Amino acid sequence: TKRVRTRDLLLAKERGEKWAMLTSYDQYTAALFDTAGIPVLLVGDSAANNVFGYETTLPVTVDELLPLVRAVTRATKRALVVGDLPFGSYEEGPTQALRTGVRFLKEGGCHAVKLEGGRRSAAAIEALTQAGVPVMAHIGFTPQSEHVLGGYRVQGRGAAAEQILADARAVAEAGAFSVVLEMVPGEVAKQVTHELDIPTIGIGAGPDCDGQVLVWQDMAGLRTGAAPRFVKRYADLNTVLTNAVRQYAEEVRGGVFPASEHTF
Ligand code: KIV
Ligand code: NA
Repeated sequence: TKRVRTRDLLLAKERGEKWAMLTSYDQYTAALFDTAGIPVLLVGDSAANNVFGYETTLPVTVDELLPLVRAVTRATKRALVVGDLPFGSYEEGPTQALRTGVRFLKEGGCHAVKLEGGRRSAAAIEALTQAGVPVMAHIGFTPQSEHVLGGYRVQGRGAAAEQILADARAVAEAGAFSVVLEMVPGEVAKQVTHELDIPTIGIGAGPDCDGQVLVWQDMAGLRTGAAPRFVKRYADLNTVLTNAVRQYAEEVRGGVFPASEHTF
């Protein structure tokens, strides 16, 4: 199996092929998604919420994320693994971004990094790309800026669509190999996707993006409670796991497990 390259994603766009991306934070899901044919895996800073139990993505650090990046990269043979630069690790400018990006490739072993911001991050994207670190950009709703944006809200409605387009052009011009569009109107995502040569990856951005991304615990129904509108639940892992754990505990209490076949 050959590793998926950023170039393959550009060629897929030329052919009009769509593809799915998922987050992964550990060995088992990484190997499973890789084997299932997911071409791009993101070790998201959403590990803040989905692994470490923080309320937002803001607290997670480079030192917390790098071991997860290593685990996911080691467990895959084919997927392009993207490591997400956490809040505070790149915003000071190209020098800081480059320092962090190089750590992700050297210590994490991933093949690309992702960072948030359009025009404001263009210089960092250019420095990273020039230095050999491929960058996936992320515009529209950017969770690391939630306190400035006023919570989880659709970006680029009405006249603000021009801002999304300007950000998209800026990241493409700076050398990003792809761009995540989060919570933007479907029509805006469609326009960006048609205008750019690089693939767009939607999350809450409608059906016209080149790729789609979801947090795996959301799409697999491990997370409980109300999910955002853009999430589709393809399984109910929460119920599956709850039932398994309950049955195990019950069988231990009742002396049913372990049985003779589990005993030396
Ligand atoms: O951290 C993350 O999971 C993400 C994706 C959902 C795009 O940034
Ligand atoms: Na993220």
